[in-house]
Amino acid sequence: MSVQRIAIVAGSALLVLVLLAISIIFLVFPRVSAATDLKVEATPELVARGDYLFNHGLACIGCHTPELEPHRFSRVFDKARIGAGRHMGGPAEGFPAEVYAPNLTPTVLGDWTDGEIYRAIVSGVDRTGRPLFALMPYPFYRILDPQDVKALVAYIRTLPPQPVTLPTMQLPMPLPIVMRFVAADPAPQKLPDARDEVALGKYLTTTGACFECHTKRNDRGEPVGIPFAGGNVFALPGGGIARSANITPDVEAGIGGWSREAFIARFRAHAPDKMAEIAPEPGDVDTEMPWTAYSGMTDGDLAAIYAYLKTVPPIPEKIVTYEPPVATK
Ligand code: HEC
Ligand code: HEC
Repeated sequence: MSVQRIAIVAGSALLVLVLLAISIIFLVFPRVSAATDLKVEATPELVARGDYLFNHGLACIGCHTPELEPHRFSRVFDKARIGAGRHMGGPAEGFPAEVYAPNLTPTVLGDWTDGEIYRAIVSGVDRTGRPLFALMPYPFYRILDPQDVKALVAYIRTLPPQPVTLPTMQLPMPLPIVMRFVAADPAPQKLPDARDEVALGKYLTTTGACFECHTKRNDRGEPVGIPFAGGNVFALPGGGIARSANITPDVEAGIGGWSREAFIARFRAHAPDKMAEIAPEPGDVDTEMPWTAYSGMTDGDLAAIYAYLKTVPPIPEKIVTYEPPVATK
């Protein structure tokens, strides 16, 4: 056989192997079961719990709702358009494509079943089984107590329609393949009893995305840093960057010197009505932390988060949390 012929045979064999590998990935992944035929019984208590989780504890509102313009510190969300979705950013903000958090109102989810919405939240696939971009924090929602997920579905069902059509997101390769490995069946946990503050705090910091934002991530969004030591970079709407803070109990670099009351007060200080008065000028301190959403968490939940954060190892690394835009003439 000539060298050329060997090269052709070897090349074709390689191509067959690659195609086979890709077909196997598409056949086997995502490892997500079919949506169940769940029908959520929407009691007033369940809807109220879903409202609390969506708008405060889990801050779904922070991505799935347009903010009031002009942009305010920590964003103030348009109460009249909850769930209408929004453009979150594009390559200029460090996203791999133009990213949209979809409209969750009946305009879009009207023909989804309860089981399909439930599955999207905890497993990370849309109704057709397409894996969702994991900016949607479903890898953290997979541990949610089933009762909390049902509460979210019940609440989403009460949202009035919002006739907004957002473009579909086109993730560049290889992300659509990578996401096939990220979407997965859930691993539910039971909502810890409020008397076990530390366990409850751990559940809340995981599902409420504190861990996700406050732990350094790699390009694929996987947490690779020291838990809660901060340092993730966020491009800000008015220019400049914010870095997530060190919220370990180190006295100098973290929240070790904060009292529980000061911790709770820091959240309350960022209630939407207070923030509505502040429109940051270029160069003013700004943030991507959804303070305005979390400001409505109960004292009990915030105290539990505080109690849990006190138990993680203290890390002495200081983080500069805000850098103004570089002045251009
Ligand atoms: C950090 C931003 C962010 C947060 C927080 C967030 N989402 Fe999402 N969500 C997204 C993005 C982006 C998508 C679209 C992903 C895709 O299409 O690949 C999405 C998709 C979805 C979908 C699928 C909708 C569709 O049309 O495909 C549902 C349902 C959903 N989110 C519900 C929720 C709920 C409930 C919460 C809170 C528990 C939440 N999301 C929190 C960003 C977010
Ligand atoms: C979208 C990313 C994001 C999420 C989610 C997030 N944070 Fe933050 N956080 C930040 C950034 C960025 C900063 C630094 C700027 C600022 O102070 O707002 C910060 C600052 C803080 C601070 C102030 C620390 C200091 O030294 O001043 C505390 C406390 C805090 N976060 C706690 C939490 C808790 C608790 C949660 C979950 C309930 C959470 N964060 C979720 C991004 C996030």
